[in-house]
Amino acid sequence: MKIRTLLAAAALLAVVGCSKDKPAAKGEAEAPAKAEPAKAGGAAAAPAAAPAAAAAHPIIDKVGGEAATVFKQRCATCHGLTGKGDGAAAQALNPKPRSFEDAAWQGTITDDHIKTVIVKGGTAVGKSPLMAPNPDLEGKTEVLDNLVKIVRGMKKGG
Ligand code: HEC
Repeated sequence: MKIRTLLAAAALLAVVGCSKDKPAAKGEAEAPAKAEPAKAGGAAAAPAAAPAAAAAHPIIDKVGGEAATVFKQRCATCHGLTGKGDGAAAQALNPKPRSFEDAAWQGTITDDHIKTVIVKGGTAVGKSPLMAPNPDLEGKTEVLDNLVKIVRGMKKGG
């Protein structure tokens, strides 16, 4: 029994070993051809695999410049790249960042209010201290205006 098994295994190895050369060569030849469809499939599957990177709200790049960088590097951590309040750090926050998609909320706040929150933080407007201040942006009118544009641009339907 054992010997048979060994023989069988050896035979199998021999078969695999022998056939390895040819299929391997074939596999190499096939690989480039397969790479293209695999890439296309990979791209299609990307949103599921890396939602944060793939699903950034288009307004961020549309506005661009330093504001876009600030939003991606700082704000998105909590507010998410789509402004839904689903950034990586948001889960730990209480209260959670609101969704910038909320049109009703958008209607209740002014652009100046948004700028104040950004520079002075949540406590300055009676909101969560977890909304961190960004004192380095004080006086950076263009960056602040553009951050407002990004926040406003995330409103659903607008
Ligand atoms: C550490 C997490 C965190 C970061 C980083 C952060 N925020 Fe917030 N943000 C919050 C939380 C929490 C709130 C409070 C939500 C509430 O009270 O409804 C908030 C609230 C806000 C509000 C709403 C204020 C209001 O009165 O309704 C705006 C606008 C805002 N953030 C913009 C930004 C922008 C722009 C940036 C980047 C410059 C940023 N936030 C960075 C957590 C964060």
